[in-house]
Amino acid sequence: MKAKECMLLMQNILQLVDEGVHVLDKDGNTIFYNDAMAALEKMDSRDVIKKPFKDVFKGLNKETSTLLKALHSKTVTKNLKQTYLNKDGKEISTINTTVPVLMDGEVIAAVEVAKNITKIEEMSNTILKLHDEIEKPAEVKHKKVKKYNFDNIVGQNEKFLDVIEKAKKSAKNSASVFIYGETGTGKELIAQSIHYASPRKDKPFKAQNCAALPESLLEGLLFGTARGGFTGAVDRPGLFEQANGGTLLLDEINSMPYELQPKLLRVLQENYIRRVGGSTDIPIDVRIITTCNENPEKILREGKLRKDLYYRLNVIQLYVPPLRERVDDILLLAKMFVDKHNARFNKHIRGFSDDACEFLLSYDYPGNARELENMIMSAISMCDDDEEILCRSHFSVPDISHYQIGDFDKIKDTGIDTYLNDLEKKIIEKALIDNNYNITRASRALKIKRQTLQHKIKKYDIKL
Ligand SMILES: Nc1ncnc2c1ncn2[C@@H]1O[C@H](COP(=O)(O)OP(=O)(O)OP(=O)(O)O)[C@@H](O)[C@H]1O
Ligand SMILES: [Mg+2]
Repeated sequence: MKAKECMLLMQNILQLVDEGVHVLDKDGNTIFYNDAMAALEKMDSRDVIKKPFKDVFKGLNKETSTLLKALHSKTVTKNLKQTYLNKDGKEISTINTTVPVLMDGEVIAAVEVAKNITKIEEMSNTILKLHDEIEKPAEVKHKKVKKYNFDNIVGQNEKFLDVIEKAKKSAKNSASVFIYGETGTGKELIAQSIHYASPRKDKPFKAQNCAALPESLLEGLLFGTARGGFTGAVDRPGLFEQANGGTLLLDEINSMPYELQPKLLRVLQENYIRRVGGSTDIPIDVRIITTCNENPEKILREGKLRKDLYYRLNVIQLYVPPLRERVDDILLLAKMFVDKHNARFNKHIRGFSDDACEFLLSYDYPGNARELENMIMSAISMCDDDEEILCRSHFSVPDISHYQIGDFDKIKDTGIDTYLNDLEKKIIEKALIDNNYNITRASRALKIKRQTLQHKIKKYDIKL
C-alpha cells in the first residue's frame, strides 16, 4: 500500500473513534483533526486543519500547550485532566494524552488524544450533592447519638488495657494514630474516645470510610470542590475543612484508592488543602486517625498502601487484638451487651447458665465484639419475658458460612485437621440445636448413623 493510501486509511479509522485526535506536523501545523475533537472544542475542522496551531489556538504557548510541549521538548503527557471553556463558553473537562512521534530521534509530529469526561464529571458532582443531602439529616441525628468515650470501653485483658492506656496518652497530643485490628474489635470506638478525650473535643469529629467511594468522589468529599473547578461544581468544603480544629477519622485506609494517596500525603505534609478545581490554599489543622482491618505489613507488601503515606499516618500505632485472644473480656462484654439490650427488648436477664458461658468462651468470634453483641441481642430476643438466665439453647450457632469459605490464615496456624474437626463440631452443634437435641433427628439431618453421631458427640465433648 502506498503512503498516500495508508494516510487515507488512518484518517478514516481515526474519524470513527469517540476520542478526539489532534496531530501536528514538525512545523506545528495541524495535519489531522477528527470530528470528535472538533465537537469537543466546538471548532470547525476547516479552521484548524493545515493551519499553524499557534494561529488557531492563540491563548496557548509552548508552556501551556501539551501538543507544543511534545513537539518542542519531546514531553510525554499521560492522562492529564484539563478543564477549559470551549468557543461557546461551555466548560469542558477532558483527559488528555499527548506524545511526540520520533523518527531517528527527531520529532516528526505530535499526537494528542482527548477523552471527554464532562458528563462523568457532571455525574460525579451530582453524586457528591446527593451525598451531602443524605449526610445532613444523619448529622442532625448524630448529635443525639451518645458519643463514645473511654468510659464506654469494656475490657480487663492485659493486652487490651495496654492498648487503651496508649490510646489515652495519645489523646493528649495531635499525632496521627493508626488503629489496626480485625473487624468489630472496637477501632471506631477507640478513635472516637481519643477525640473526645483530647483538647479538640469541642471541635468536630468527622469520619469517612475510604472503601465506599471511587477516587474522584472521595477526593471531592475529602478536599471539597471549587465553583468552576469542573462542570456544575459548586463551592463545597470537604471533610478536612469541616473537621478543622478537630479530628478526621479515615476508616478502612487499606481500601483508599491508590491514586488518591499521594494527594492525601501532600495535605498531611503541608497542612493545607486545595479544593478540587480551586486555586487557593486553605490552611487546616486536623488530627488524623486511621483504621485498618488488615495487617499493615501485608498491605504494604501488596502495594495497597503507599509506604510514605503509611509512615506519616502511623506515628502512634494501636493494635487491637481479636476477641478470641482476649477470652477474659468475653463475659464482661457479654454482660454489658445484656444490660444494654435488656431494656430494648423489655427483658430481665441477669446472667448466664454454665453451658451458655462455656459456649460463649469457646466460640472464636470472627466478627469480634460486634458479633458477640449480635449473638447476645438475638439470644435475648429468644427469651421469655420472665426468664432471668440466658442458656445455651437461647443461642443459635452463629452462621457457619465463613467456615465453609475457609480461613487460610487459621489453617496455617492450626493445621487442616484441627480446622476440620472444629468445623465438624460446629456443624454437629448446629444440627443438635436445630433438632432440639434429639439425636435421632439430628443424625438423620446430617445423614449419618445415630451411633456415629453419638461417637462424635463424645469425641468433641459436646454437652447435651
Ligand atoms: N471493648 C469494647 N467495649 C464496648 N463496646 C465495644 C468494645 N469493642 C467493641 N464494642 C462495640 O462493638 C461494636 C463494633 O465496634 P466498632 O464499630 O468500633 O468496630 P470496628 O473495629 O470499627 O469494626 P469495623 O472494622 O468492622 O469497622 C460497636 O457497637 C462497639 O460499641
Ligand atoms: Mg469501624
